[in-house]
Amino acid sequence: MRVDRFLSNLPRFNRQQVRLLLVERRIRVDGHVVSDPHHEVREFSQVSLDDEVLQTGKPARYFMLHKPQGCVSATADPQHRTVLDLLDEPDKGELHIAGRLDFNTTGLLLITNDGQWSRRLTQPQTKLPKVYYVETEQDIGPEYATTFAAGLYFAFEDLTTQPAELLVLSPRTARLSITEGRYHQVKRMFGHFDNKVIRLHRERMGPLVLDENLAPGQYRTLTDAEIQQV
Ligand code: URA
Repeated sequence: MRVDRFLSNLPRFNRQQVRLLLVERRIRVDGHVVSDPHHEVREFSQVSLDDEVLQTGKPARYFMLHKPQGCVSATADPQHRTVLDLLDEPDKGELHIAGRLDFNTTGLLLITNDGQWSRRLTQPQTKLPKVYYVETEQDIGPEYATTFAAGLYFAFEDLTTQPAELLVLSPRTARLSITEGRYHQVKRMFGHFDNKVIRLHRERMGPLVLDENLAPGQYRTLTDAEIQQV
């Protein structure tokens, strides 16, 4: 929300007082003086007037998990273990998953309470590459790369997938980079050629690479540098 709106929502200031506080440079957001009424205040921002804290700002939380096979990318499931069960953290109900993985897909999963941040990672418009290591039942033909680069029509959603880059590593293994996260996207792309994906592992989302020190099921908090990169 805009800082002027945030301030005038407080019972103690009217709009004119808010305008004055900003002009007088008495408002700080995260320690920086703010005079632009459009400046954004988030639930994570600390807002102060002179030396008085008006909002402490709740901590933003970001985790990288190495998702193992056989667990659900959901916050709750009646039957199976969920990825949140793997986190030993308080207030897990506030967290959400930035880009789910299927039950048997392994690899990089990002979990956060910051919706803006996770949208930047997952929205197709931002075109951040999601990179997967893929193993298939049949050989991967030379025509796959051209078809994936041109985009595939998905009748259910009535859309054509964004251009994707395929690097064939061996007859039945490849690295695929896609910029969206449609339902079962990778399996459906290979399914176009009647080729079943038998192993799928996400290595990277945009600038964030799965930490090789994390064994399946382990997680760590993201560093400030990693958070800023997105
Ligand atoms: N595409 C899939 O088909 N499954 C995943 O888990 C991720 C991408």
